[in-house]
Formats: sequence, structure tokens, C-alpha cells
Amino acid sequence: MSTDVIKVNTPSRSYDVVVGQGVIDEVGDLTRKACGGSVACVISDSNVAPLYANAVAESLEAAGYRTTLQVFPAGEQHKRLSTLSDLLEGLAESELSRDDVVVAVGGGVTGDMGGLAGALYLRGCKVVQVPTSLLAMVDSSVGGKTAVDLEAGKNLAGAFFQPSLVVADVDCLDTLTPALFTDSCGEVIKHGVIRDAELFRRLVSKPINAPDFDPAELQSVIVRNIEIKRDVVDQDERERGLRQILNFGHTIGHAIEAASDFKLGHGSSVAAGMCCIARASARMGWCPDEVATDIVSAVEAYGLPTDTSEDHDTLFSYAVHDKKRHGTTVNVVVPLAIGSVEVRKLSLEEFRHLIDLGCGTQA
Ligand code: GLY
Repeated sequence: MSTDVIKVNTPSRSYDVVVGQGVIDEVGDLTRKACGGSVACVISDSNVAPLYANAVAESLEAAGYRTTLQVFPAGEQHKRLSTLSDLLEGLAESELSRDDVVVAVGGGVTGDMGGLAGALYLRGCKVVQVPTSLLAMVDSSVGGKTAVDLEAGKNLAGAFFQPSLVVADVDCLDTLTPALFTDSCGEVIKHGVIRDAELFRRLVSKPINAPDFDPAELQSVIVRNIEIKRDVVDQDERERGLRQILNFGHTIGHAIEAASDFKLGHGSSVAAGMCCIARASARMGWCPDEVATDIVSAVEAYGLPTDTSEDHDTLFSYAVHDKKRHGTTVNVVVPLAIGSVEVRKLSLEEFRHLIDLGCGTQA
């Protein structure tokens, strides 16, 4: 299987996303070319570090870097300012300079926190993302969103800070549990719905979470997802307009995730959120009924949830505390057709009505 390189060109930085089998062993050489510097601080969590931190550190050392390793406890509950503070102190102890590199190895939480640590330390050093989960490969490692959670909600303190390089080794997906892999498929389906009807059809005709799914085909699906994200963030790095379409399914999805006390995974919550908003949009006459039924069928084909039984007032309350709210309005991404969505600015009353129309009608 060959290696693919997707070029990202945002106003603040241009960088490569390298996708392939075994590319984790090339992190050192690729980092040398993309970043230079002499020190590389590897940041990983307690689940991923035992699997991949050594391979990454050895590759960096072979490329001439002095390396250090910081491991934090795995889990969204550790994506907090206190963990970030420890990471920043660790970077200072490593005597990292602004020309040196933070290498975040892991899933979305590690990428978000490693990226934010790199954005803040010395007002910004170089960041290399080495995503090891499907969700991190197709979404969070690309586009420069970094954040930690606050008591008041997810991802409320962060920065847009683009990495200098992303290296996605598809072999890392072999160590994901089937449940985690399937969870990430919610974001993969989302990319088809928002921008690419052909990808959507591919995903439905052959679900990528089938046990015998062809690895070369999987890499090509991952690459297409990264291209879709790249095309959006190249045009709107800071989510002033177009980038909001990447939030399809997220306003209700985040509410479902929070209402479940984060027991339901992010991708599963987004999948349910997409179905709810699609049903509501069809009932409002904003899209044909088939758009909603196609989205629900796709989500079903992956064994992901298509609805929620959470109380509507609870969902509304979590959703309007989401940072996508703008004063007395909330921007909601609605499907027009498979492959096409639009952002609608709704009053809180209109949004509350959508929850009644789309949620709990199947659960
Ligand atoms: N995950 C959505 C975005 O990066 O904008």
C-alpha cells in the first residue's frame, strides 16, 4: 500500500498530512524535514504511550532529536487545565525552545491537549500530530483546533493553532477496540453527508467497520475524509463561516453526549445528533424526507444510535450552553441533500422546536 500526502494550506500555516502503513517509523525524518529543531517532547496518554511512544521516540532520536516523554492519565475527564498545566511545566523542564517540537501521539484528547500545550508554550512552538484513533485521523488532528474542557463544558478553553505536520499510521487502527472504531465512524459518515455524496454511498454500500474490510480501501476512505476537512479549513481556518458545516450533528450531539454523562461516545452522539436534526429538517420542509431516511439508514448500517431518549429540556439546556450559541440565537447545520448542508441561524424557540421534532421520535 502506498503512502498518501494531503497538503493543507491555511492562512496561518501550510503542512502535510502523511497517511500510510508503518509511517510511525518515519515520524523522525518527517519531523526533521517539516520542523527542524533539536528537542522533541512526546506527549501521550496512559493507554497509547505503552503501544506507540517508544516507536515514535526511537524514530525521533534516529533523526537527531533529544526526546522527552510526558504521559497523562487517559480519558476525557483529564482534558483539563490541571493536566495542561503539568504538561506545560514538563515542556519547561525539557528546556524546549520555540524552534523545538511537541509531538502529540494518541487520540483526540491527546491531540487537543498536546496541540494546546504547543500553542501556549513560549507563545507557540512547533507541533506534530501523530493520531492513533480513526476519529483523530479523519478529524481532530487536522485543522488546528486545540482545547481543554472547563466545568461549564467541553472544549471551552482553546486556540486555533495549526500543526506543522500530521503523520497518520493506519496500522495503529489495529489496536483500537471494534467499539471505538465504530464510534469514530459517526464523524466519517458526517463528512459524506456534508460534502460528498459519492463517499456517503461508498460508506453505505460497504461499511468500513465490517471485520473483513479491505485495508487499502480503508486508507482511501481516510484520505478522502482528510481531503474534505482540508478543503473546508483551507477556506475558513477560524470557523467564521464555512467551517461551521463540520459541526453537523454536533449541537444536538454534544447535548446527547453531555446528557449521557459522557458514557455515550462522541461519534455515537454525533451520529444520533445527525439523525435528529435530519428528521427535524425533513419535518420542517427544509429537505426531502429521503435525506433523513438515508442518513438514518447509514447510521443504522454502522450499528450507531439513530435517536436519543434523553429529556428534551435537558437536551435544550446542554445545547444552548454549547459554544455554538450566539447570544439569543444558535447556528444549526441542516442537510439539504446528501453531500450538501447549510448553516441556519435559529432563535432559541425555533431550536427548541427542532428538538421536539427530531428527538425521541424513534427511540
Ligand atoms: N471538528 C470540527 C472542526 O475541526 O472544525
